[in-house]
Amino acid sequence: MGAREFFDLGGRGALVTGSSRGIGRAIALGLAECGAAVAVHGTRPGGALDAALAEVRAHSPRGVAVTGDLGEIGVPARVVADAIGALGRLDILVLNASAQIRRPWDGVPREESELQMRVNFHAGLEMIQAAVPGMRAGKWGRILTVGSVQQRRPHPDMVVYAASKAAQENMVRNLAKQLGPEGITVNNLAPGVILTDRNTDALADGAYAARVRELIPLRAFGEAGDCAGAALLLCSDAGRYITGVDLFVDGGMGLP
Ligand SMILES: NC(=O)c1ccc[n+]([C@@H]2O[C@H](COP(=O)([O-])OP(=O)(O)OC[C@H]3O[C@@H](n4cnc5c(N)ncnc54)[C@H](OP(=O)(O)O)[C@@H]3O)[C@@H](O)[C@H]2O)c1
Repeated sequence: MGAREFFDLGGRGALVTGSSRGIGRAIALGLAECGAAVAVHGTRPGGALDAALAEVRAHSPRGVAVTGDLGEIGVPARVVADAIGALGRLDILVLNASAQIRRPWDGVPREESELQMRVNFHAGLEMIQAAVPGMRAGKWGRILTVGSVQQRRPHPDMVVYAASKAAQENMVRNLAKQLGPEGITVNNLAPGVILTDRNTDALADGAYAARVRELIPLRAFGEAGDCAGAALLLCSDAGRYITGVDLFVDGGMGLP
């Protein structure tokens, strides 16, 4: 197989959760550029989701949009069903959406804790449960979770978020062993500090931004597109012999 064929996703169907913006949008675009029919996803319909869909369709005309709050009971499986219904198949599932709440550990209320675990862990497991039967039938599947450098370096004010990402990575190693015999790979991509809407406010504080940059060996923040290349490797035939890995796209920030 040549280099171009390795990354050719023609005929594949993909769902990327949380792809109305940020890292998810960059991954969705990358998959579409490689020929996949992509379902973009956001909490609800809106301008950002429409724009992401238009971008994806410019490369792969069979793109669709699906919506739903992954923190709500029953919604994760329904979103997968909607994507399968609209695309006709689902070979690639990228679990990128997450809830992230900053608060000192001793004041985290139960509802915030549960919300983050629901969106970042429970929804992912439920979506995998809904997606695997189709992948199993085709003997080919790619499941990619988006974790965080916080799996290794938890932020003091994000105790639940960091733990949810560590739990997700543990699930990846567990399922990689169980689904490997069926031709399905399961991997995790752990971003460092990537310039997206979610950290615009925090990084607007120049002194804070400078302190964070000092923690990054490459001395720069990442861009959403930096995660897309790694995602393409893990979602294509180029990554067919890679499963259960935890790939850090973090400029070295997660190094011990
Ligand atoms: N940016 C970073 O520095 C960084 C670092 C480490 C890890 N990560 C991880 O990378 C992933 C993407 O982060 P990002 O910075 O690109 O995020 P972002 O720009 O804030 O976008 C978040 C996306 O997730 C969706 N979303 C949020 N809550 C949801 C819910 N309850 N149900 C369904 N969809 C929901 C949003 O949909 P709407 O547009 O509809 O709200 C949006 O599409 C996340 O898993 C995050 O934890 C990011």
